[in-house]
Amino acid sequence: MKKLNVGMIGYGFMARTHSNAYRKVGNFFDLQYEPVLKTVCGLVDAEAAAFARRWGYESHCTDWRKVVEDKNIDIVEVVVPNNYHAEIAIAAAQAGKMVICEKPLALNAPQALQMVEAVEKAGVANFVSFNYRRIPAVTLAKNLIDEGRLGKIFHYRANFLQDWTISTAVPTGGMGTWRLDAKSAGSGVTGDLLAHCIDTALWQNGSIKNVNAMTETFVKERKNAETGKMEPVTIDDACTFFCRFNNGSMGNFESTRYARGHKALYTFEINGEKASIRWDLHDLHRLQYFDHGDASILRGWRSIHVSDADQPYMKHWWVPGLQIGYEHSFVHQIADFLEGLATGNPARPTFRDALETQKVCDAVLKSAKSGQWENVG
Ligand SMILES: NC(=O)c1ccc[n+]([C@@H]2O[C@H](COP(=O)([O-])OP(=O)(O)OC[C@H]3O[C@@H](n4cnc5c(N)ncnc54)[C@H](O)[C@@H]3O)[C@@H](O)[C@H]2O)c1
Repeated sequence: MKKLNVGMIGYGFMARTHSNAYRKVGNFFDLQYEPVLKTVCGLVDAEAAAFARRWGYESHCTDWRKVVEDKNIDIVEVVVPNNYHAEIAIAAAQAGKMVICEKPLALNAPQALQMVEAVEKAGVANFVSFNYRRIPAVTLAKNLIDEGRLGKIFHYRANFLQDWTISTAVPTGGMGTWRLDAKSAGSGVTGDLLAHCIDTALWQNGSIKNVNAMTETFVKERKNAETGKMEPVTIDDACTFFCRFNNGSMGNFESTRYARGHKALYTFEINGEKASIRWDLHDLHRLQYFDHGDASILRGWRSIHVSDADQPYMKHWWVPGLQIGYEHSFVHQIADFLEGLATGNPARPTFRDALETQKVCDAVLKSAKSGQWENVG
């Protein structure tokens, strides 16, 4: 097996999910590559050192340029706030490294395009961590659509609901709350949460033609965690948009951090001529399926427990009936990325795929400002 040295830039939430995936992937998947956790980088030296010890990295540092310039590193992982994605990913590509970047790819589509151009010019493998695609029930939904089981699709609706920023005491900026600061996040729920829904929708139901959106910022001013000063909040706290897909179906998307009682309620429902499917992150191993072709006396929603060996990814895990969870979607994406290197058929979404999601996000934010339908460029 060929060893691939990983440089992880960031040691926060996503660095944990990605490190865990690298640790486990070789135990469950037959691969031609062996990832080696070489170095981890983050802002605070002692925290980076503690992360390196816990996850088994050989070294740590606080300057991401050292990782990018290190000739021993093969894969650069960009798992830092969104405003650093472009600079780090472009430098990594120019240094000839493969790049795995967290979502959203960039702050906006023009910046995402620069990233696409950099990885394509350098000819390096690239991948964006839209991990929900690789939850087995979500992959099964995609497979059912591709097999034509839903027939013509009429409706695609998705929600991503949270409630963690309702308190006015939640600050903006700084560690942990950089998501509330447009300078580091780019946007609010649109780039953070709807980007996931959009990526899955584009993958399952094809491209989006135009959008009509509404956003709201419920808390107008917050204290900046770094300066201690009150400042205007410039992110979208909530966003709802309608869209038309190029296949003629209608889309309806909603995301908010003000849905009291919901921590991370990502759901989608797709209604076709012959069948419908529904999925809920809080019950992630189940896919709800309604088939109009069933005998009428038996017709109804089935709750499919996606845990059998012939269902996506499940043959790599336990025995039928035993389910897996959130972290496994990250194991699957690393497995697929490494498999893509071996076969020459790159795992998706690539940077170019993620640019499409970014364009939809930009059109959504533009429409919310203009109050008009906006085309996805
Ligand atoms: N795929 C998903 O479901 C998912 C979930 C959460 C976050 N994300 C994305 O992952 C990325 C990171 O989010 P997170 O939740 O892990 O953030 P986090 O706040 O938990 O961690 C951010 C890390 O970045 C490091 N960092 C910040 N600036 C840096 C710099 N200049 N140089 C080096 N390191 C720096 C910090 O030290 C910290 O370790 C974001 O792009 C976010 O949108 C994706």
